[in-house]
Amino acid sequence: MTQSAAAIAASQRRTFAIISHPDAGKTTLTEKLLLMGGAIHLAGEVRAKGERRRTQSDWMKIEQQRGISVTTSVMTFEREGITYNLLDTPGHEDFSEDTFRTLTAVDAAVMVIDAAKGIEPQTRKLFEVCRLRDIPIITLVNKMDREAKDPFELMDEISETLALDCAPMVWPVGMGREFKGIYDIHNNRFVRMTEDGYEDIAVSGTEDEKLTAYMSEDQQLTLQEEAELAKEACPQFDMDSFREGHLTPVYFGSALKNFGVKELLNGIGAAAPSPGPQPSVGRIVDPGEDKVTGFVFKVQANMDPNHRDRIAFVRLVSGKFKRGMKLKHVRSGKPIAIYNPIMFFAQSRELAEEAWPGDIIGVPNHGTLRVGDTLSESEDLRFTGIPNFAPEILRRVRLDDPMKSKHLRKALESLAEEGVTQVFKPYFGANWIVGVVGQLQLDVLVTRIEQEYSIKVGLETAPYETARWVSGPDDAVNKFIDSNRSAMSEDRDGAPVFLARNSWELGHQQQTNPDVKFEKTRERS
Ligand code: G4P
Repeated sequence: MTQSAAAIAASQRRTFAIISHPDAGKTTLTEKLLLMGGAIHLAGEVRAKGERRRTQSDWMKIEQQRGISVTTSVMTFEREGITYNLLDTPGHEDFSEDTFRTLTAVDAAVMVIDAAKGIEPQTRKLFEVCRLRDIPIITLVNKMDREAKDPFELMDEISETLALDCAPMVWPVGMGREFKGIYDIHNNRFVRMTEDGYEDIAVSGTEDEKLTAYMSEDQQLTLQEEAELAKEACPQFDMDSFREGHLTPVYFGSALKNFGVKELLNGIGAAAPSPGPQPSVGRIVDPGEDKVTGFVFKVQANMDPNHRDRIAFVRLVSGKFKRGMKLKHVRSGKPIAIYNPIMFFAQSRELAEEAWPGDIIGVPNHGTLRVGDTLSESEDLRFTGIPNFAPEILRRVRLDDPMKSKHLRKALESLAEEGVTQVFKPYFGANWIVGVVGQLQLDVLVTRIEQEYSIKVGLETAPYETARWVSGPDDAVNKFIDSNRSAMSEDRDGAPVFLARNSWELGHQQQTNPDVKFEKTRERS
């Protein structure tokens, strides 16, 4: 059977994210990957661009002050016939919700681990999100040019803490100042670290005399033993096991020295899955289908503070997208003509003339597109798996100037559409309740309302601790709502949400209303 153009294009794409604990080297690795893909030409450009971007918008000062990255962006580059779409994920734990959504749009993830620190809390959390979605993981043990833990110890740590088999693809020779390079276990090749990069040396095996020129006698003996042991005692790379999320290929290197990055990228190209079929309500959509479909996984508003612009990040699922094409916005039932789709490159954004399954396009809009929305040239589809999370922190929004209540509503709704916060309108009372997963989101919220909408607000403790979407048979839900009106609110889609004072109250309500479901997550409608 001949493959469709969309199926062929999909097979040449790798859409992935990098997950790591802050400081493990994600930014440095991103930069080196982009250099390798020719998307940037000088080291330092990713950071420099980050800083320029930050100065554009004051609210990002928060980001600067705390030294963290709170925005998600996409970077596309090509190498050896493969198009790589790298989706950046915010590293800070308060943004796990945003990160989760970004991870719904990737097919694989690179897990960067600091060789001296091993698995850190945020690595673990992000890994668990990947596991929920069975996203295959490729591991880079970074910073081998510094003092590091023993490689076997590190792999044991990964295996034990994450219940993930580790298949070493290369083996490090030395560490810190004595780090000499990596030995390619499967292809008998030594990659030597040099002052300004690397040198590939073909050898007959770890005993090859050539190696004595590049490492001490002791190091060569250790390499012989360890590489042998790694081959015999560690699991071998197995494609099925990797794709199912049970095994991770492990690379060692130094992003800072641009060392081991080529091997990693080759590994992504060779092993990471290309865009695959995507579940929707009712059927699974294949990337090779002729009709274009896609879903919104992120909305970013006010990227340019002078314009109230919004960019919806759409992951294409199937078909060949062409600029100017009309797609149905399934939630509203209306067609949207996409005249100015944006493709993201490291240094610039360009109009996308065409795009394929796995690609991310930015669609400028005035608030029509929301996270979770489906765009379809085909029938009325709805892609699944992009949930809202029940917030863990609830606050009441206090408005200093009551005349601005309409403005506030707009600001809150718009920020909710971006996924910065969730908003709940209590059945009784005029004050909105905002819900977030992490404290930092609240700071971002207040600063942005003030700077982008010129409204001064304060946040007060709400008498609620947790929120749950309620659903179930109509009569049971209605009965529950009627007897708990003072604790009921609606989300921005009008869905009923129960605000519980504490976990005891929630448990009590669950017991006394067995037919009502109290849900922690809600699929976006
Ligand atoms: P992140 O995005 O994961 O938070 O980490 P980032 O790349 O910003 O790296 C954090 C720090 O670790 C940076 O140092 C960076 O230079 C350093 N680093 C990254 N990869 C390596 C590596 O392979 N080896 C060594 N030795 N260091 C590495 P910094 O001093 O905090 O920042 P900077 O002044 O160097 O920019």
